[in-house]
Amino acid sequence: MPNQIDNWIDKIKEREKKGLPLEEATSPESFWYTNDAFFQFERDSVFKNSWQYVGRSDQLINSGDYFSGDLFGLPYLVVCDEGLKAFYNICSHHATCLVEGKGRVSELKCPYHGWVYNFQGELKKIPQAGPLGKLNPKNLKLTELPLKKVGPFIFLNFGQEKKWEGNSLESVLTDYSYEDFKFVGSFKYRLKCNWKVFVDNYLDGGYHVPHMHPGLTEQIDFSSYKTVRSDCFSIQTCSSKRGNQSSKEGDFLERVEGTSSYFWLYPNFMVNLYGRWMDTNWVRPIKSDECEIIFDYFYRGTLNDELKRKSLKASEKVQEEDTLICERVQKGLESGLFFGGPYVPKFEGSMYDFHQQLMKSYLGF
Ligand SMILES: [Fe+2]
Repeated sequence: MPNQIDNWIDKIKEREKKGLPLEEATSPESFWYTNDAFFQFERDSVFKNSWQYVGRSDQLINSGDYFSGDLFGLPYLVVCDEGLKAFYNICSHHATCLVEGKGRVSELKCPYHGWVYNFQGELKKIPQAGPLGKLNPKNLKLTELPLKKVGPFIFLNFGQEKKWEGNSLESVLTDYSYEDFKFVGSFKYRLKCNWKVFVDNYLDGGYHVPHMHPGLTEQIDFSSYKTVRSDCFSIQTCSSKRGNQSSKEGDFLERVEGTSSYFWLYPNFMVNLYGRWMDTNWVRPIKSDECEIIFDYFYRGTLNDELKRKSLKASEKVQEEDTLICERVQKGLESGLFFGGPYVPKFEGSMYDFHQQLMKSYLGF
Protein backbone atom coordinates (compact mmCIF):
# COMPACT_ATOMS: atom_id res chain seq x y z
CA MET A 1 0.00 0.00 0.00
CA PRO A 2 2.55 2.65 -1.04
CA ASN A 3 -0.03 5.46 -1.22
CA GLN A 4 -1.17 4.81 2.29
CA ILE A 5 2.41 4.82 3.60
CA ASP A 6 3.10 8.07 1.68
CA ASN A 7 -0.01 9.56 3.21
CA TRP A 8 1.17 8.61 6.72
CA ILE A 9 4.67 9.88 6.05
CA ASP A 10 3.16 13.21 4.95
CA LYS A 11 1.24 13.40 8.21
CA ILE A 12 4.38 12.58 10.21
CA LYS A 13 6.36 15.19 8.24
CA GLU A 14 3.68 17.76 9.06
CA ARG A 15 3.94 16.85 12.70
CA GLU A 16 7.72 17.08 12.61
CA LYS A 17 7.58 20.43 10.81
CA LYS A 18 5.30 21.90 13.46
CA GLY A 19 7.90 20.87 16.06
CA LEU A 20 5.52 21.48 18.95
CA PRO A 21 7.04 21.34 22.44
CA LEU A 22 5.80 18.96 25.11
CA GLU A 23 3.39 21.55 26.50
CA GLU A 24 1.63 22.06 23.17
CA ALA A 25 2.06 18.74 21.36
CA THR A 26 -0.48 15.95 21.21
CA SER A 27 0.22 12.23 21.30
CA PRO A 28 0.36 10.35 17.96
CA GLU A 29 -2.68 9.61 15.87
CA SER A 30 -3.99 6.10 16.25
CA PHE A 31 -2.67 4.82 12.90
CA TRP A 32 0.76 4.58 14.57
CA TYR A 33 -0.74 1.83 16.74
CA THR A 34 -3.40 0.08 14.74
CA ASN A 35 -2.44 -0.54 11.16
CA ASP A 36 -0.71 -3.69 9.86
CA ALA A 37 1.06 -1.93 6.99
CA PHE A 38 2.36 0.72 9.37
CA PHE A 39 3.50 -2.06 11.71
CA GLN A 40 5.52 -3.60 8.86
CA PHE A 41 6.93 -0.18 8.01
CA GLU A 42 8.31 -0.04 11.57
CA ARG A 43 10.41 -3.13 10.96
CA ASP A 44 12.75 -1.24 8.64
CA SER A 45 12.35 2.27 9.99
CA VAL A 46 12.55 1.56 13.73
CA PHE A 47 13.73 -1.97 14.49
CA LYS A 48 16.35 -2.45 11.79
CA ASN A 49 17.79 0.93 12.58
CA SER A 50 18.19 0.73 16.31
CA TRP A 51 20.21 -1.51 18.59
CA GLN A 52 18.08 -4.47 19.55
CA TYR A 53 18.37 -6.42 22.79
CA VAL A 54 18.47 -10.16 22.04
CA GLY A 55 19.59 -12.03 25.16
CA ARG A 56 21.99 -12.44 28.05
CA SER A 57 25.67 -13.29 28.18
CA ASP A 58 25.09 -15.83 30.99
CA GLN A 59 23.40 -17.97 28.31
CA LEU A 60 26.73 -18.13 26.42
CA ILE A 61 29.51 -19.31 28.72
CA ASN A 62 31.37 -22.08 26.85
CA SER A 63 32.64 -22.23 23.29
CA GLY A 64 29.77 -23.33 21.05
CA ASP A 65 26.98 -22.14 23.37
CA TYR A 66 24.42 -20.37 21.21
CA PHE A 67 20.93 -18.95 21.15
CA SER A 68 18.82 -17.99 18.18
CA GLY A 69 15.74 -15.91 17.61
CA ASP A 70 14.06 -13.67 15.14
CA LEU A 71 13.19 -10.03 14.92
CA PHE A 72 10.24 -9.32 12.61
CA GLY A 73 11.19 -12.42 10.59
CA LEU A 74 14.93 -11.66 10.58
CA PRO A 75 16.49 -14.86 12.00
CA TYR A 76 19.70 -14.40 13.99
CA LEU A 77 22.02 -16.48 16.12
CA VAL A 78 24.56 -15.49 18.74
CA VAL A 79 27.39 -17.91 19.48
CA CYS A 80 30.19 -17.98 22.01
CA ASP A 81 33.71 -18.63 20.77
CA GLU A 82 36.59 -16.59 22.17
CA GLY A 83 34.16 -13.70 22.25
CA LEU A 84 30.55 -13.40 21.20
CA LYS A 85 29.63 -13.41 17.52
CA ALA A 86 26.26 -12.81 15.88
CA PHE A 87 25.11 -13.80 12.40
CA TYR A 88 21.96 -14.05 10.40
CA ASN A 89 20.83 -17.63 11.05
CA ILE A 90 20.71 -18.36 7.30
CA CYS A 91 22.81 -20.90 5.39
CA SER A 92 24.52 -19.41 2.32
CA HIS A 93 23.43 -22.43 0.26
CA HIS A 94 19.60 -22.49 0.31
CA ALA A 95 18.70 -20.14 3.16
CA THR A 96 18.01 -22.86 5.74
CA CYS A 97 17.99 -21.64 9.35
CA LEU A 98 21.11 -23.28 10.72
CA VAL A 99 20.19 -23.67 14.38
CA GLU A 100 17.03 -23.59 16.47
CA GLY A 101 16.39 -22.40 20.02
CA LYS A 102 19.50 -22.59 22.17
CA GLY A 103 22.15 -25.15 23.01
CA ARG A 104 25.79 -26.06 22.46
CA VAL A 105 27.40 -27.18 19.19
CA SER A 106 30.94 -27.93 18.04
CA GLU A 107 30.35 -26.21 14.69
CA LEU A 108 27.48 -24.54 12.86
CA LYS A 109 26.23 -27.31 10.61
CA CYS A 110 23.30 -26.84 8.25
CA PRO A 111 20.80 -29.69 8.74
CA TYR A 112 19.81 -29.62 5.04
CA HIS A 113 22.99 -30.52 3.09
CA GLY A 114 25.54 -30.57 5.89
CA TRP A 115 27.38 -27.35 5.05
CA VAL A 116 29.60 -26.47 7.99
CA TYR A 117 30.61 -23.03 9.28
CA ASN A 118 32.97 -22.22 12.12
CA PHE A 119 32.09 -19.76 14.88
CA GLN A 120 33.64 -16.96 12.84
CA GLY A 121 30.98 -17.63 10.19
CA GLU A 122 33.49 -19.07 7.69
CA LEU A 123 32.34 -21.90 5.44
CA LYS A 124 34.60 -24.86 6.27
CA LYS A 125 33.01 -27.92 4.65
CA ILE A 126 30.77 -28.62 1.68
CA PRO A 127 30.19 -32.39 1.93
CA GLN A 128 29.97 -34.57 -1.21
CA ALA A 129 29.97 -31.56 -3.49
CA GLY A 130 32.84 -32.51 -5.79
CA PRO A 131 34.35 -29.73 -7.89
CA LEU A 132 32.67 -26.44 -7.17
CA GLY A 133 33.76 -24.63 -10.31
CA LYS A 134 34.09 -20.92 -9.72
CA LEU A 135 32.41 -21.10 -6.35
CA ASN A 136 34.64 -19.64 -3.64
CA PRO A 137 33.81 -20.57 -0.02
CA LYS A 138 35.28 -17.23 1.06
CA ASN A 139 32.32 -15.53 -0.58
CA LEU A 140 29.86 -17.74 1.27
CA LYS A 141 30.50 -16.60 4.83
CA LEU A 142 27.56 -16.13 7.15
CA THR A 143 26.47 -12.52 7.38
CA GLU A 144 27.79 -11.09 10.61
CA LEU A 145 25.72 -8.68 12.70
CA PRO A 146 27.29 -5.91 14.82
CA LEU A 147 27.08 -6.83 18.51
CA LYS A 148 27.42 -4.83 21.71
CA LYS A 149 27.34 -6.02 25.29
CA VAL A 150 26.38 -3.95 28.33
CA GLY A 151 26.61 -5.76 31.65
CA PRO A 152 24.93 -9.10 30.90
CA PHE A 153 22.82 -7.71 28.04
CA ILE A 154 23.53 -8.40 24.35
CA PHE A 155 22.38 -6.05 21.60
CA LEU A 156 22.52 -6.51 17.83
CA ASN A 157 22.13 -4.13 14.93
CA PHE A 158 20.21 -5.36 11.91
CA GLY A 159 20.53 -2.39 9.60
CA GLN A 160 22.34 0.90 9.40
CA GLU A 161 24.46 1.18 12.48
CA LYS A 162 22.95 3.96 14.54
CA LYS A 163 24.56 5.83 17.38
CA TRP A 164 25.03 3.59 20.40
CA GLU A 165 23.03 4.90 23.35
CA GLY A 166 23.78 2.06 25.74
CA ASN A 167 26.50 3.86 27.72
CA SER A 168 23.82 5.37 29.92
CA LEU A 169 22.69 1.84 30.76
CA GLU A 170 26.27 0.84 31.57
CA SER A 171 26.54 3.62 34.17
CA VAL A 172 23.20 2.73 35.79
CA LEU A 173 24.24 -0.94 35.99
CA THR A 174 27.63 -0.03 37.44
CA ASP A 175 25.94 2.09 40.15
CA TYR A 176 23.98 -1.01 41.14
CA SER A 177 27.01 -3.39 41.02
CA TYR A 178 25.32 -5.47 38.36
CA GLU A 179 27.95 -8.21 38.53
CA ASP A 180 26.42 -9.36 41.82
CA PHE A 181 23.10 -10.20 40.14
CA LYS A 182 22.30 -13.79 39.23
CA PHE A 183 19.60 -14.81 36.77
CA VAL A 184 16.56 -16.27 38.54
CA GLY A 185 14.00 -16.97 35.82
CA SER A 186 11.84 -15.70 32.98
CA PHE A 187 8.16 -15.01 32.34
CA LYS A 188 6.48 -14.27 29.07
CA TYR A 189 3.28 -12.24 28.66
CA ARG A 190 1.19 -11.80 25.53
CA LEU A 191 -0.69 -8.49 25.41
CA LYS A 192 -3.42 -7.60 22.96
CA CYS A 193 -1.94 -4.20 22.24
CA ASN A 194 0.60 -2.56 19.99
CA TRP A 195 4.15 -2.73 21.38
CA LYS A 196 4.23 1.06 21.75
CA VAL A 197 1.23 1.07 24.09
CA PHE A 198 3.31 -0.90 26.61
CA VAL A 199 6.29 1.45 26.14
CA ASP A 200 4.05 4.54 26.50
CA ASN A 201 2.65 3.11 29.73
CA TYR A 202 6.20 2.58 31.02
CA LEU A 203 7.20 6.14 30.10
CA ASP A 204 4.35 8.07 31.76
CA GLY A 205 6.63 9.06 34.65
CA GLY A 206 4.67 7.03 37.19
CA TYR A 207 1.47 8.97 36.41
CA HIS A 208 -0.62 5.79 36.28
CA VAL A 209 0.95 4.15 39.32
CA PRO A 210 -1.43 5.48 42.05
CA HIS A 211 -4.44 4.61 39.89
CA MET A 212 -3.44 1.24 38.50
CA HIS A 213 -1.05 -0.24 41.09
CA PRO A 214 -2.55 0.17 44.60
CA GLY A 215 -0.20 -2.44 46.12
CA LEU A 216 2.92 -0.83 44.71
CA THR A 217 1.70 2.67 45.60
CA GLU A 218 1.56 1.71 49.29
CA GLN A 219 5.28 0.90 49.13
CA ILE A 220 6.75 3.86 47.22
CA ASP A 221 7.15 7.52 48.10
CA PHE A 222 5.48 8.97 45.06
CA SER A 223 6.63 12.53 45.93
CA SER A 224 10.24 11.39 45.32
CA TYR A 225 9.48 10.30 41.73
CA LYS A 226 12.00 11.82 39.28
CA THR A 227 12.68 11.31 35.60
CA VAL A 228 15.93 11.94 33.74
CA ARG A 229 15.06 12.46 30.09
CA SER A 230 17.09 11.96 26.94
CA ASP A 231 16.25 11.28 23.28
CA CYS A 232 16.92 7.56 23.38
CA PHE A 233 16.76 6.65 27.04
CA SER A 234 15.15 7.67 30.29
CA ILE A 235 15.80 6.91 33.94
CA GLN A 236 12.89 7.11 36.38
CA THR A 237 13.76 6.89 40.06
CA CYS A 238 11.66 6.61 43.17
CA SER A 239 12.27 5.93 46.88
CA SER A 240 10.44 3.32 48.87
CA LYS A 241 8.33 4.25 51.89
CA ARG A 242 9.70 3.26 55.24
CA GLY A 243 7.92 1.09 57.76
CA ASN A 244 5.11 -0.21 55.57
CA GLN A 245 5.94 -3.86 55.82
CA SER A 246 2.95 -5.58 54.33
CA SER A 247 0.06 -4.98 52.04
CA LYS A 248 -3.25 -6.62 51.23
CA GLU A 249 -2.38 -6.26 47.56
CA GLY A 250 0.53 -8.66 47.75
CA ASP A 251 3.39 -6.18 47.48
CA PHE A 252 5.82 -5.70 50.38
CA LEU A 253 8.63 -3.36 51.31
CA GLU A 254 11.44 -5.89 51.16
CA ARG A 255 10.91 -6.13 47.39
CA VAL A 256 11.29 -2.42 46.65
CA GLU A 257 13.43 -1.15 49.56
CA GLY A 258 15.81 1.78 48.93
CA THR A 259 15.72 3.64 45.64
CA SER A 260 14.23 2.01 42.57
CA SER A 261 15.44 2.87 39.07
CA TYR A 262 13.51 2.20 35.90
CA PHE A 263 15.69 2.48 32.81
CA TRP A 264 14.36 2.53 29.24
CA LEU A 265 16.48 2.25 26.11
CA TYR A 266 14.93 3.21 22.78
CA PRO A 267 12.88 1.63 21.43
CA ASN A 268 11.84 -1.48 23.35
CA PHE A 269 14.04 -2.51 26.26
CA MET A 270 13.73 -1.73 29.97
CA VAL A 271 15.84 -2.57 33.02
CA ASN A 272 14.26 -2.19 36.45
CA LEU A 273 16.38 -2.13 39.60
CA TYR A 274 14.66 -2.25 42.99
CA GLY A 275 15.77 -3.62 46.34
CA ARG A 276 17.91 -6.66 45.60
CA TRP A 277 16.06 -7.32 42.38
CA MET A 278 16.73 -6.47 38.77
CA ASP A 279 14.34 -7.34 35.99
CA THR A 280 14.27 -6.63 32.28
CA ASN A 281 11.25 -6.05 30.07
CA TRP A 282 11.92 -6.97 26.46
CA VAL A 283 9.01 -5.71 24.37
CA ARG A 284 8.64 -7.82 21.24
CA PRO A 285 6.23 -6.72 18.52
CA ILE A 286 4.01 -9.52 17.19
CA LYS A 287 1.28 -7.75 15.19
CA SER A 288 -0.07 -4.21 15.04
CA ASP A 289 -2.38 -5.08 17.95
CA GLU A 290 -0.28 -7.66 19.76
CA CYS A 291 3.06 -7.80 21.56
CA GLU A 292 4.98 -10.10 23.83
CA ILE A 293 6.91 -8.98 26.88
CA ILE A 294 9.70 -11.17 28.19
CA PHE A 295 10.54 -10.53 31.83
CA ASP A 296 13.90 -11.83 33.05
CA TYR A 297 14.46 -11.68 36.81
CA PHE A 298 17.82 -11.37 38.59
CA TYR A 299 18.65 -11.26 42.30
CA ARG A 300 21.72 -10.38 44.31
CA GLY A 301 22.32 -12.26 47.52
CA THR A 302 20.74 -15.46 48.76
CA LEU A 303 17.21 -15.85 47.58
CA ASN A 304 15.01 -18.16 49.64
CA ASP A 305 11.98 -19.87 48.12
CA GLU A 306 9.45 -17.85 50.12
CA LEU A 307 10.94 -14.48 49.10
CA LYS A 308 11.17 -15.64 45.50
CA ARG A 309 7.54 -16.76 45.46
CA LYS A 310 6.25 -13.58 47.11
CA SER A 311 8.37 -11.26 44.95
CA LEU A 312 7.43 -12.87 41.66
CA LYS A 313 3.77 -12.89 42.69
CA ALA A 314 3.89 -9.17 43.51
CA SER A 315 5.60 -8.47 40.21
CA GLU A 316 3.02 -10.53 38.35
CA LYS A 317 0.24 -8.50 40.00
CA VAL A 318 1.76 -5.25 38.69
CA GLN A 319 2.09 -6.81 35.25
CA GLU A 320 -1.54 -7.98 35.26
CA GLU A 321 -2.62 -4.43 36.11
CA ASP A 322 -0.51 -3.02 33.27
CA THR A 323 -1.81 -5.64 30.82
CA LEU A 324 -5.38 -4.74 31.66
CA ILE A 325 -4.88 -1.04 31.04
CA CYS A 326 -2.72 -1.46 27.91
CA GLU A 327 -5.40 -3.62 26.32
CA ARG A 328 -8.06 -1.02 27.14
CA VAL A 329 -5.94 1.69 25.53
CA GLN A 330 -5.59 -0.43 22.39
CA LYS A 331 -9.36 -0.84 22.23
CA GLY A 332 -9.80 2.92 22.32
CA LEU A 333 -7.10 3.42 19.67
CA GLU A 334 -8.78 0.83 17.41
CA SER A 335 -12.11 2.70 17.61
CA GLY A 336 -11.16 5.23 14.94
CA LEU A 337 -12.42 7.93 17.31
CA PHE A 338 -9.07 9.09 18.70
CA PHE A 339 -6.71 11.54 16.98
CA GLY A 340 -4.12 12.17 19.70
CA GLY A 341 -4.46 13.65 23.19
CA PRO A 342 -2.41 16.08 25.31
CA TYR A 343 0.70 15.10 27.24
CA VAL A 344 0.72 15.97 30.94
CA PRO A 345 4.10 17.77 31.07
CA LYS A 346 4.75 17.08 34.75
CA PHE A 347 4.86 13.33 34.07
CA GLU A 348 4.85 12.44 30.40
CA GLY A 349 8.04 14.05 29.06
CA SER A 350 9.75 10.72 28.37
CA MET A 351 6.73 9.49 26.45
CA TYR A 352 6.94 12.64 24.33
CA ASP A 353 10.68 11.99 23.78
CA PHE A 354 9.87 8.43 22.66
CA HIS A 355 7.35 9.70 20.12
CA GLN A 356 9.79 12.36 18.90
CA GLN A 357 12.44 9.70 18.39
CA LEU A 358 10.00 7.40 16.59
CA MET A 359 9.16 10.27 14.28
CA LYS A 360 12.86 10.61 13.43
CA SER A 361 13.08 6.87 12.75
CA TYR A 362 9.99 6.94 10.53
CA LEU A 363 11.45 9.83 8.53
CA GLY A 364 14.89 8.18 8.29
CA PHE A 365 16.85 10.77 10.33
FE1 LIG B 1 2.32 0.17 35.43
